[in-house]
Amino acid sequence: MIIRNPNIANLKAGYLFPEIARRRREFASAHPSDVRIISLGVGNTTEPILPHICGGLVEGSRRLGTIEGYLGYQDEGLLELREKISEVFYGRKFDADEIFISDGAKCDIGRLQTLFGAGTRVAVQDPSYPVYVDGSVLSGAAGVWENNGYHGVAYLPCTAENGYFPDFSLVPENSLVYFCSPNNPTGVVSTREQLAELVKFALKKGCIVVFDAAYSEFIRDPSLPKSIFEIDGAEQCAIEVQSFSKSAGFTGVRLGWSVVPKALKYADDESVNADWARLAGTVFNGASNIAQTGALAALDSEGLKEMRRLTDFYLENARLIKGALQNLGISSIGGDNSPYIWARFPGRDSWDVFAEILERYRIVTTPGAGFGPSGQSFIRFSAFGRRADVEEACERLKSFKV
Ligand code: MLT
Repeated sequence: MIIRNPNIANLKAGYLFPEIARRRREFASAHPSDVRIISLGVGNTTEPILPHICGGLVEGSRRLGTIEGYLGYQDEGLLELREKISEVFYGRKFDADEIFISDGAKCDIGRLQTLFGAGTRVAVQDPSYPVYVDGSVLSGAAGVWENNGYHGVAYLPCTAENGYFPDFSLVPENSLVYFCSPNNPTGVVSTREQLAELVKFALKKGCIVVFDAAYSEFIRDPSLPKSIFEIDGAEQCAIEVQSFSKSAGFTGVRLGWSVVPKALKYADDESVNADWARLAGTVFNGASNIAQTGALAALDSEGLKEMRRLTDFYLENARLIKGALQNLGISSIGGDNSPYIWARFPGRDSWDVFAEILERYRIVTTPGAGFGPSGQSFIRFSAFGRRADVEEACERLKSFKV
């Protein structure tokens, strides 16, 4: 018989969001009720794709039915889209062959670690998006779950005490550092000075930063950086993963990109960019041409306005949720430049608070402990929801006793 990959056995239980869905189903079948369950749990978009961008998707399909418009494999993505991304997001700082179109940020995060292999040291913000740790464990970069942490993964506590910005002295040299801003789950956005500190540290210690900027389009404060590449020197130490999921409503369409600069090198001076092109060409045949035509529409002037409208909508949801929590005397952060609100329930176990909110108010949230040990006693509220549901959830929560 074939032996199971031991890395899979090293994964901690189930992936967080299916586990939440399982608890929701279990609760719903044990407590049939007329009161509908509202989800403010997983960050899944609810609003229709806006007309201009949707028109791009339709046009992409139409073209595929014509001899002039038909396209087959486009491994690294449509040249026009890669150039447009460089123009819109990076002021043309990158050549098209430094931008790789993907089927989403999560998928690239899952594939990226193949570049570094088993035994790579990994550091993550704690709390963090679970894919960084699970992806590391799957690739064998880390060992087993024990004592609140995976061997081989350094957890960098991000707490109220340190302003949700980690202490890099905990990061071993030559590590892969996952960093997310606007942060999922805390909603905190790192300042320019903080990202400069991250880049300086990475350059000094031989680290590579995987910068997850999937929520950058929610940033409204112009002083806050949207990309790690706004910081000098980042091309020598960072990869950025990005997504159209939340900004254009492409969660189901699937489209993202990664920037892998040519200046980024391994210890032996080989090119990370060349390896990523090699890897992508081997295990990935490129994203949907239809989705890419939709993305081109999202990046013209009309499309950019629509992305702004869509992200404004979710930010208004976030404002309503934050206001409701504030009225209850529950302290929270995030939600201003991000679609996530991180609410604190001192002294409580976050899975217990999750269960209480589900049972008493029929609202699904995400327990902070699911994002790492420092998430204990926190609950994440997602602003991705229909407006009427968000209003109803805020109304239901009015009787919450802290
Ligand atoms: C979440 O944190 O809710 C996730 O970001 C959903 C996703 O994978 O995008």
